[in-house]
Amino acid sequence: MRIDVLTLFPEMFSGYLGQSLVKRAVDAGVLDIRVHNIRDWARGKQRQVDDRPFGGGPGMVLRPEPVVESVEAVQGEGEAPGHLVLLTPQGRRLNQRVVEELAGERRLVLICGRYEGVDQRAIDLVAPDEVSIGDYILGGGEVAAMVVIDAVARLVPGVLGDEESNKQDSFSGDPPLLEFPQYTRPREYRGLTVPEVLMTGNHPEIARWREEQKRERTRLRRADLLED
Ligand code: 6GU
Repeated sequence: MRIDVLTLFPEMFSGYLGQSLVKRAVDAGVLDIRVHNIRDWARGKQRQVDDRPFGGGPGMVLRPEPVVESVEAVQGEGEAPGHLVLLTPQGRRLNQRVVEELAGERRLVLICGRYEGVDQRAIDLVAPDEVSIGDYILGGGEVAAMVVIDAVARLVPGVLGDEESNKQDSFSGDPPLLEFPQYTRPREYRGLTVPEVLMTGNHPEIARWREEQKRERTRLRRADLLED
């Protein structure tokens, strides 16, 4: 999979991309991640990317030209334009179903919003899939883009060492359930012991216990996941 990122802060991605999961996938050739600076498409000697909102109000708005022109330039390189995503709190909320959908694309182009927002005409012109990572406000879309890259990358075949480990994840079943509790050595720590069933070697019984733990945890902590 190829992922292009359009941002005003490309340096925010360097530490993240050096991280093991993503780096391994890039080194293995299953992921190709390219970060582009929107400012490279800004005009004038000031290369101004933002301006004050018409109608007044606080903050700055991303001007339409560098957004539209960077999208056109980046989508124009490579074999296919790819699926265009704008990271914004105005978007549909990310969950594991959306992650699976995005992971099914051959190419993603992620635009990181900043300031009070992006000029609506740029959004109307490039018609991105608008995605939010949750109901809170970040300083910009960069951290959200890293969340999307991380969640999508681990579903790309060949990224996770153990191909089975994502089927076991919370939120990947139907209905999505929280995970069961995990235990490892030692058998006793500060007077706390490992549930007896896990020490029996009775695998059907262990599987039954884990399923029950998943349902009970989900009911207690995330009843909203069981609603439909
Ligand atoms: Cl995608 N961007 C920003 N700026 N804030 C957010 C977000 C995105 N998702 C949740 N909050």
